[in-house]
Amino acid sequence: MNNHWSHRHLLDLAVLTQQDFELVLELAERFRAIPSQGPRRLPALQGRLVATLFFETSTRTRNSFEIAARRLSADVASFAPASSALMKGESLLDTALTYAAMGAELLVVRHGSSGVPGAVARDLEAMGHRVAVLNAGDGLHSHPSQALLDLFTLARHFAPRQPTMQALAGRTIAIVGDILHSRVARSNLWALSAAGATIHLCGPSALLPGCFADFLAAMPPGCNPDPIPHRGAVHLFRNLDEALTDVDAVITLRLQKERAQRHLLTNLEDYHRAYGITHARLERCRAGAPVLHPGPVNRDVELSSRLLAEPQRCLVNRQVSHGIPIRMALLYLLATTLER
Ligand code: CP
Repeated sequence: MNNHWSHRHLLDLAVLTQQDFELVLELAERFRAIPSQGPRRLPALQGRLVATLFFETSTRTRNSFEIAARRLSADVASFAPASSALMKGESLLDTALTYAAMGAELLVVRHGSSGVPGAVARDLEAMGHRVAVLNAGDGLHSHPSQALLDLFTLARHFAPRQPTMQALAGRTIAIVGDILHSRVARSNLWALSAAGATIHLCGPSALLPGCFADFLAAMPPGCNPDPIPHRGAVHLFRNLDEALTDVDAVITLRLQKERAQRHLLTNLEDYHRAYGITHARLERCRAGAPVLHPGPVNRDVELSSRLLAEPQRCLVNRQVSHGIPIRMALLYLLATTLER
């Protein structure tokens, strides 16, 4: 394996090249294939401290980063806002500095505001700290490790023996629901388009503004030209049956009630009727098209409970399992840049 990884931090998937994506998938597949019996720890991060700084709630991302770090023999320091000095008024940056001073070199950061992991990376670097920051979800901006585990889950579904980017090329993937509030959707747009998949975005106008049709044209600062010369296309749909026609897979998103309830939602039953994924709705897709959801799921709102109970069709639990090898791959790659 040729490790050409050059990114000190992982903040946004827009910066990754085709080779970067392939490297993450290849490493994740190697880590996934380690037998579950016998010793599972690899020595790759022995002596390193990983800090998980979650300023916003999480079950999957936080635990799978911590499990991934331990499987690579790292020490883990876990930050819990409610019992921390944040409650005494300590700032976000001073919190991150405190962990860096304790020797944390890999900082996994989640925050409700877009841009916080990037600001932590910039400020710590400016102060001379040699750290790598992994964005574990920031506001509406980005959730890179979630989109990478979605990519890995789809690649393994379509090509179990060789889960590479090629497995997604020429496929059509629908992303359905609350796109506006979804950092997962934004990161999936970068990842799936890099693999050459066509993306159908579907949702009501309140949750899917028309500007998303041009999402991939707006490269983030410092990312010009696009590292992916030929991305898959993005098409917008209001009607779910049209959006699902002949697609190879469906990613449905959590309706973010905590962000949307105030002004954008009317009635959850109406939403389920229009945008909920059920067996009947899936008839429009290609035969056997799987359904993904980043979790947590609002049962019988974005996804029927009946579908959730079918692991062959609904890959939610497989996504969670894949979170560990993907996050092992990311921690491993970012740790290698600390040595350079
Ligand atoms: N998908 C996801 O980010 O889940 P958590 O909020 O549980 O981490």
